[in-house]
Amino acid sequence: MTSQLIDPFDRTIDYLRLSVTDRCDLRCFYCLPKGFKDFEEPEDWLTFDEIERVIRAFGALGTRRIRITGGEPLVRKNLPELATRLHNLPGIEDLSLSTNAVKLARHAEALHTSGVRRLNISLDSLDHDNFQKITGGKLEKVLAGLMAAKAAGFTPIKINMVVMKGINEHEVEAMVDFCIEHDFTLRFIETMPMGDTGRDAVDHYVDLQTVRAKLEQRFEMIPSVMPGGGPARYMQIAGTDLRIGFITPISQHFCETCNRVRLSVDGTLYLCLGQDNKFELRPLLRDGISDDGLQDAIRHAITLKPERHEFNEQPNQIVRFMSVTGG
Ligand code: GTP
Ligand code: 5AD
Ligand code: SF4
Repeated sequence: MTSQLIDPFDRTIDYLRLSVTDRCDLRCFYCLPKGFKDFEEPEDWLTFDEIERVIRAFGALGTRRIRITGGEPLVRKNLPELATRLHNLPGIEDLSLSTNAVKLARHAEALHTSGVRRLNISLDSLDHDNFQKITGGKLEKVLAGLMAAKAAGFTPIKINMVVMKGINEHEVEAMVDFCIEHDFTLRFIETMPMGDTGRDAVDHYVDLQTVRAKLEQRFEMIPSVMPGGGPARYMQIAGTDLRIGFITPISQHFCETCNRVRLSVDGTLYLCLGQDNKFELRPLLRDGISDDGLQDAIRHAITLKPERHEFNEQPNQIVRFMSVTGG
């Protein structure tokens, strides 16, 4: 019999989001405050050996999907080496990466060779000045990264756009046209009140039902599906290959189908994106816990998973910055 992780609400947990660093080479205003310095110290980062051990244990407990996240995962040195090690672990069938693509042009080929197949790329604006305002970075680098990813053979490539009133809502249709032209999948995301910055961003909150209604005036949209383990609900634009995913944690939360937990760079297992419930694995790893002991600890941690986030009921609850667990 294969092992499975089942949480207290009868959800099977088979998707781990692995944050390999809490640092980032952009400063999206809704994610990380400018000048933020309180990052984890290198001695507290799980090493590649430690990460491999934890993922091996998750694989033995039925985890099939690993998504590498950050901060920005490509700022962690030798990431393709880690990806190769994870790809080769028993049970891991789906290895994917979420990135801002700033460094992707340099690493796309090596990542593809390492066994990462699915890429999700953050892109909130196609306007150079607006991109700079939102992220503090340069759009050209991201576009070069996107084209390198396409050339390296990644499929699908999903663009993540956090839609914000007064910031980039007017670019929704331009993004649709861009994704049709380049054969990317597009996902719209509602802002979540994570950390102080995320709470500022909530002032710009857009209910994605309004975005969908507007697009339906221009396009015929048909319900669709995409490979992936995440919460997006997809619609295809008739007459094109474009699928648009709607990620609606605020207007229509999807916690009852939650299948995931998150491991941060310091070895903390966070049981929910929107809650502080956690379990620390690093001390156990560094105290020489056995493989069986590690699996027991993970089983125990899963019993701490809460039912759902409370972004709507408790908008002022302080949850960590998004960059700690990469979404
Ligand atoms: P796939 O479906 O496997 O392609 O990935 P994904 O959509 O799960 O991953 P991605 O890193 O692209 O996440 C996209 C957005 O969905 C981010 O803003 C995440 O914060 C959000 N998201 C992903 N998982 C959850 C979740 O469990 N809860 C909430 N509230 N948001 C999530
Ligand atoms: N609300 C919603 N999405 C966010 N992301 C980062 N911070 C937030 C937030 N406060 C998104 C990024 C990226 C994904 C992994 O998470 O833009 O696309
Ligand atoms: Fe799961 Fe928490 Fe995300 Fe809801 S908010 S889907 S419970 S991780």
